[in-house]
Amino acid sequence: MKEAHYLLLPLILLLLISPFISDPLLIPASFGILGWAMLLFVTALPRIAQWSRASILIKLSAQRMWVGIHSFLYVLFHLIFVLNNIFSWNIDAFLTAVSNNLAYYSTATLAFLILLLMTITSNRFSMLLLKKWWKRLHNLVYLALLLIAIHVFGLGLVYANILVWLLFAIATLYLILNKIKRMKR
Ligand code: HEM
Repeated sequence: MKEAHYLLLPLILLLLISPFISDPLLIPASFGILGWAMLLFVTALPRIAQWSRASILIKLSAQRMWVGIHSFLYVLFHLIFVLNNIFSWNIDAFLTAVSNNLAYYSTATLAFLILLLMTITSNRFSMLLLKKWWKRLHNLVYLALLLIAIHVFGLGLVYANILVWLLFAIATLYLILNKIKRMKR
């Protein structure tokens, strides 16, 4: 089995325990924070693998597409559990919440759409088809990370206290600045 698939173990565990958790926020928030952490990890992966030379990170770097797809699964379950646990699939209640917190929901929705497109095109066929557009599309992960930071700043309640948010936001900023530096070279 590919090492990247082990990253799904916390996801499976969360799904298994979810029926026994009474706090409605805990499961969606857990998927949200893990999804955000995984997205930062997969974006930084080539550089931390190169820097640390740890064999597990080098292997995961070679399986980066899978790490990206698995990150999206965490995000997808975050959305499913938000709709299920918080809004009980009541679209009116959801739309009211969206209109009351438009900035934080619209950034989340745009980030989600970027990640969805990236996941759909995470295969060799799409790479060959889209050519230079594939790289451009996948570079949008930096925009998605920025949008997620705004989203969590507004809606984070469970894990995302100001310290955790700052830690993740600084990592996001570092990755973006590092990317700009590499693009200028
Ligand atoms: C695009 C990827 C997304 C990521 C990485 C993400 C991540 C997160 C994180 C880390 C939190 C804070 C968890 C905490 O309270 O500690 C959160 C909260 C929340 N997110 Fe997202 N989110 C994403 C997309 C979305 C989308 C598309 C929606 C719905 C349109 C959404 C709705 C919410 C809501 C309602 C909360 C507050 C409840 C909670 O804490 O779970 N998120 N999100």
